[in-house]
Amino acid sequence: MKTEKQYKDLTIREFTKAADIYESSHAGIYEMCKDDYPYISGELAKEDYIDLLDCGCGTGPMISLLYEADPSRHYTGIDITPRMIEVARAKNLPGVTWVVGDCENLPFDDNAFDVIICSNSFHHYPNPQKFFDSAQRVLRPGGRLILQDYTAPAPVLWLMNHTEMPLANLIGHGDVGAYSLDEVRRFCGKSGLRVEKLERGRKFRLHLVARKGPVPEPQRNDSLTRKEQIKNAYKLTGSKSGFYDGMMTYSTLPGKTICRLVWNMDGQKNLRYLEKALSGVPQDFEGKLLEVPVGTGVLTMPVYADLPKADITCLDYSEKMMASAREKAETMGIANIKFVQGDVGSLPFEDESFDVVLSLNGFHAFPDKEAAYRETYLVLKKGGIFCGCFYIKGECGRTDWFIDHLYGPKGFFTPPYETRESLRQQLEQRYEKVKTTAVEGIGCFRCRK
Ligand SMILES: C[S@@+](CC[C@H](N)C(=O)[O-])C[C@H]1O[C@@H](n2cnc3c(N)ncnc32)[C@H](O)[C@@H]1O
Repeated sequence: MKTEKQYKDLTIREFTKAADIYESSHAGIYEMCKDDYPYISGELAKEDYIDLLDCGCGTGPMISLLYEADPSRHYTGIDITPRMIEVARAKNLPGVTWVVGDCENLPFDDNAFDVIICSNSFHHYPNPQKFFDSAQRVLRPGGRLILQDYTAPAPVLWLMNHTEMPLANLIGHGDVGAYSLDEVRRFCGKSGLRVEKLERGRKFRLHLVARKGPVPEPQRNDSLTRKEQIKNAYKLTGSKSGFYDGMMTYSTLPGKTICRLVWNMDGQKNLRYLEKALSGVPQDFEGKLLEVPVGTGVLTMPVYADLPKADITCLDYSEKMMASAREKAETMGIANIKFVQGDVGSLPFEDESFDVVLSLNGFHAFPDKEAAYRETYLVLKKGGIFCGCFYIKGECGRTDWFIDHLYGPKGFFTPPYETRESLRQQLEQRYEKVKTTAVEGIGCFRCRK
């Protein structure tokens, strides 16, 4: 029996040696880890998510696969072995966060992730309960832990823990222990995770899917509730809505056609970019919010209908568009809202007067973008959130073509356009905690003043 530190030092030594061959075809005993990736991908595909954490990510093979399939999500990998993270970082996957750290004490905020995966790392943890407690803390309500590791029937498990693992320690491996299904169930129960799947598979595989819950009413899973609100926006438009609203909400035949043809987006992607863009507006927001430009309000009125304590101001240059937003607000009984006609390049508000400034699909059209960045920054309070989305070039060739040949020449959009990288740099000049992602040609951002 070794101390916690001795086990962790052994692990780091083992994987420092393994890092450079880990993903090669000469990975030796680690080859078998690859068998678990399809299973994890399959579980992940069952539910939508935005923020994923890979615990004991190693050189990031799982994150690489997921990123390749969908680079628009936000992936974070944590591993205790610095060399594994160095190799992962060298892959240069834009937007992916790599952290050297201990899964028994995850260095992340509470409720930060929609899903956690952990594959073939758990048997290295000297304090398994601490891992479950930590995972539970950083998961969002309703979020899932998907874990793959070893287990076996009792006699085999005993042999694994009393002969195989101590022998492995002698040859420099940091294995600590494998657990029975009952023990795993107890770890989950103690940490407040609800077991949804717990199975022993072939080749001594342990499959676990556990969920943080139940979702407490006052702080329900933001992304789920937000999704419902956005879906409400879709319903609100219906088949009788105008072309613009139908396109924004992917709810009419012409709208869907444009979304697919120009933006390469289906309903899922549409929903995903809106969720990301709105992620800076807390579910229970009670402060002052400015939306600019509000347009017809089709995307945001259903969100505002659920923010009865917020003080909302909507601004647009076009009275005509705003009349449609005003009508929606009246129909939905939103009283805590004002509409102001004005120019984003010269906002008619005092400096530092809003807690959140939200801008959906506007910046690509503003002629003086620098003025818009400046003004939105000035009216935001210190510590306030600036979030939203707009077209960025370089992410989807088809969209770029339509913008250059149609939307730009027709005057719907005004160059120059940001790229994902220039958007990040632009925001970092003024803001902290800048987070940018792209869903096809739409760049989503959230940052703090
Ligand atoms: C066999 S590798 C698995 C890598 C990857 N998850 C996969 O499935 O290919 C185990 C990884 O767990 C990491 N690890 C072990 N103990 C850890 C701990 N306490 N915190 C974070 N990572 C740990 C090791 O450094 C190693 O990179």
